[in-house]
Amino acid sequence: MADYIWKKDSAGEVDERVMRFLAGDDVILDRELLPFDIRASQAHASGLARIGVLSDAQADSMVAALNELQQAFDAGEFVLDQRYEDGHSAIEAWLTERLGDIGGRIHAGRSRNDQVAVAIRLYLRDRLARLSTVCQQIAHVALDRAKSEAMVPLPGHTHLQQAMPSSLGLWWAGHAEAFIDNADLARQTADWLDASPLGTASGFGVNLPLDRDGVAEALGFSRLVVNPQYAQNSRGKIELRAVDALAAATGDLRRLAWDLSLYASAEFDFLKIGSTYCTGSSIMPNKHNPDAVELLRSLHATIVGARAELESVLSLPSGYQRDLQDTKPPLIRAFRRGLVGLELVPGLLNSVSWNETRLREAIAPALHATDRANELVGQGQPFRQAYRQAAAELDELADRSPEDSLEARVSPGGCANLLLERLRERLDALSTR
Ligand code: ARG
Repeated sequence: MADYIWKKDSAGEVDERVMRFLAGDDVILDRELLPFDIRASQAHASGLARIGVLSDAQADSMVAALNELQQAFDAGEFVLDQRYEDGHSAIEAWLTERLGDIGGRIHAGRSRNDQVAVAIRLYLRDRLARLSTVCQQIAHVALDRAKSEAMVPLPGHTHLQQAMPSSLGLWWAGHAEAFIDNADLARQTADWLDASPLGTASGFGVNLPLDRDGVAEALGFSRLVVNPQYAQNSRGKIELRAVDALAAATGDLRRLAWDLSLYASAEFDFLKIGSTYCTGSSIMPNKHNPDAVELLRSLHATIVGARAELESVLSLPSGYQRDLQDTKPPLIRAFRRGLVGLELVPGLLNSVSWNETRLREAIAPALHATDRANELVGQGQPFRQAYRQAAAELDELADRSPEDSLEARVSPGGCANLLLERLRERLDALSTR
């Protein structure tokens, strides 16, 4: 372990067992945060030069040394490991090794408390953008398929009982709209937390005229977290909202995966899932299992479990508490696994092939009863009377066709009027924002 940055002459003995416990998996988790910490450190150095705490040459040499650190990190030549207490110490150690005493000047006007807070906000902005993008990609595939398979009949279920003729168009567009909402929520959440806590130091401000606005602007933030206390008190709170946005997507994915696994069973036999997303059984030679679909269904459990863990840490008084470090493992675990899973979904959806003959056959005549009742309403009957008549004459529905039923479903959003262009417009507006 390199010497602790907080070590001073008056500090007592360091017990490595205690230190290891305090560090937890911090250096491993900080590998995800390091690039953001480096960028923020560069902006901070330039900000210090603007107020004369560093000379321009000193700030420039720090920015250059930090670029080298990023390159060495990307190339695997610099490994963030147990030699360091955390990513923040590693940055300072790197600068001091290269620049001597000048390196130690990076920490003027900041604390690890605002350093980790800014790194997390930059990380969340990045991951929420990725979340929004993948939700848009899923929505695109679903919308394209809704258009090309719009009028293919599909039995509609409520209570898992056959209900009315539906269509692949309606099913796909329903999942598309869900992921448009999720992409939108990810964007809104990123906007909501787009504020810089850097320059709040340990949570009380500092006796230097820091150029906080200039630093925030250099990092692309749209505003400041103004209050230093709130810069710390909002730790965990912003993580929760970000995980909620992720959970909105994985929750909808769970339902989509349920549909796929149900429809893929021999009893339904509505669709086949591409073989890349399936595995075989170690004992049953006949098996072709939709494992990817199932693990995408359980992905939501990882996210809500992380959410619960995160929330439980936040029973805290005002200001920085070391407990906050324990918000990092669930946050990083949730986004790592969540995004990797979601990024498989566009390909998975493209791999689905439908058994159209079977879909059509699965629509029993009785599914036309609601159409029949509405037709009688059109002929002037009160609905309740029409309902009873249709129920009494189910056997008269035998030669109705699902296609006719779909063609007549003209209500806005219904099978014959899916309003896909409205969904497309919303989706396109998200990608240009
Ligand atoms: N690993 C710490 C965290 O995530 C970094 C901040 C440490 N601050 C401190 N005062 N010990 O919270």
